Amino acid sequence: MTRDLESSLVETAYARWAPIYDAVCGPVMVKGRRAAAAAAREVGGKILEVGVGTGLSFDDYDASTEVTGIDLSAPMLAKARAKMASGRYPHVKAVYQMDAHELDFADASFDCVVAQFVITLVANPERVLSECHRVVKPGGRIILVNHLYSEVGFAAALERWAAQRTRGLGLRPEFPFARLQAWAQSTQDAILLERRKLKPFGIYTLVSFQRHDQAPSPNQTDHNHAAA
Ligand SMILES: C[S@@+](CC[C@H](N)C(=O)[O-])C[C@H]1O[C@@H](n2cnc3c(N)ncnc32)[C@H](O)[C@@H]1O
Repeated sequence: MTRDLESSLVETAYARWAPIYDAVCGPVMVKGRRAAAAAAREVGGKILEVGVGTGLSFDDYDASTEVTGIDLSAPMLAKARAKMASGRYPHVKAVYQMDAHELDFADASFDCVVAQFVITLVANPERVLSECHRVVKPGGRIILVNHLYSEVGFAAALERWAAQRTRGLGLRPEFPFARLQAWAQSTQDAILLERRKLKPFGIYTLVSFQRHDQAPSPNQTDHNHAAA
């Protein structure tokens, strides 16, 4: 049984990560980050980056977007603000310290919500997804990228073993896709659009949802099963 990480544990962990995050996680996660930003650029417009961290993704957006970031960790955000102060990212509007479980934005504020390497860390992933769904406009998208649980076989056993040893680092390597799918199935107007393993090696998975702008038809409801 997976035990959700507490927010305080995440804050403590990312205060430690902040000074070394870009050097350690920048190159390792770059493919996932770029794939998520490319999918968000296809939507364009107002983008919310949930768990924006040190702002490593700022390079992956352009003038077709207006990016707002939020993160729980003040030390991670200090790094993001330093990048903004360089003047290289005029498309980044603001970053705020905020808990993804309680987004301080009005309903339907954004065209797209992106969460890169975040949803598996938060204390209550379903609540965070519902908050993302609330603040995205009808017709807009939620785009996630993460390592997701292998679910069967040796890799799954290894991930369960690793999970016991990495919680204090703010990591949760055993998060299953089925949990994201179940959220979409139980949420009105949420459609699971895509589940795509990313090259190389398929270590990271991109998952996207759309907030439907009308009551979903039976076919669209089926989509939540088809992407599995
Ligand atoms: C692995 S880092 C990813 C950072 C960035 N998205 C990237 O790809 O480099 C996870 C980030 O999620 C943030 N985070 C974790 N739980 C959060 C929450 N409940 N609300 C907001 N941010 C959170 C952490 O502080 C951290 O900056």
